[in-house]
Amino acid sequence: MKLELSGLHPDFGAEVLRIDLATPLDDVLRNAIEGALEVHGVLLFRGQSLNQDQQISMAKCFGRLDSGFKKVSKAPNRFNYDELLDISNVNDDGSIAAHDQQKIIGNVANQLWHSDSSFQTPATSYSMLQAIVLPESGSVTEFVDCRVAYESLPADQQLALEGLVARHHALHSRCMLGDDNYSDEQVAAVPPAEWPILKKQQSTGRTSLFIGAHAKAIIGMTVPEGRMLLMDLLEQATHPDRVYRHEWRTGDLVMWDNRTTLHRGRRWNISERRELRRTTVLANAS
Ligand code: OGA
Ligand code: MN
Repeated sequence: MKLELSGLHPDFGAEVLRIDLATPLDDVLRNAIEGALEVHGVLLFRGQSLNQDQQISMAKCFGRLDSGFKKVSKAPNRFNYDELLDISNVNDDGSIAAHDQQKIIGNVANQLWHSDSSFQTPATSYSMLQAIVLPESGSVTEFVDCRVAYESLPADQQLALEGLVARHHALHSRCMLGDDNYSDEQVAAVPPAEWPILKKQQSTGRTSLFIGAHAKAIIGMTVPEGRMLLMDLLEQATHPDRVYRHEWRTGDLVMWDNRTTLHRGRRWNISERRELRRTTVLANAS
């Protein structure tokens, strides 16, 4: 099956036309979507309106689902499924959360470049984020393709990254922002994960950088040296020319591969309601 695609950015990303994801996916469509993600990294489906059950069943076609940071926060969920992640500034009773609430801090931490749940084993493959209610003042999420980032590095720099392994931790991005008041139990809830900085994508033979806000150290380097390298790579990977800036419309569903892309939310007026719902698939062990 050939999907109808329209490019989002010269380097990566595509809009998929005329597909309704609320209709159960058969294997043929599922494989076509997976094939398109291998090539493009990020896919946009406009005009969707998946209810909770439909978003969960669509995501489950791609593998087992992750419950994300909830493993640490144990935050209650206003949805029918633990695996439907509430990317919003809305409390359980429907009111808008106060600025200092944990809910808002999660939204702020999403504004650092990251790969969803890179801090755990297994890591994740795909995330699917659907826009339900958007602020009037606009709402943006940005993406970069980490294969393009790797391919753009000079050969000597590529070589120097061979064999390096980074340690990722769930609370690192939050601690960087000064949100560091977590109990020992919460810290222990998700042990750190170690991942090579270079990941080869078997299906395309391309190599991707695997970095982002959860990476806190490089094994065998001092913490400052490792962090400086991670920051330097991130800066190169997210050069403005390489960024696809997604301006959300209600009913958009964006799907991306966390193994080959990084993303970040952008600041918005947090006293305006913003509700998106995410499902995230666990990667097969590799
Ligand atoms: C996410 C995320 C960014 C945003 O849902 O994984 O990082 O703009 N969201 O809400
Ligand atoms: Mn995210």
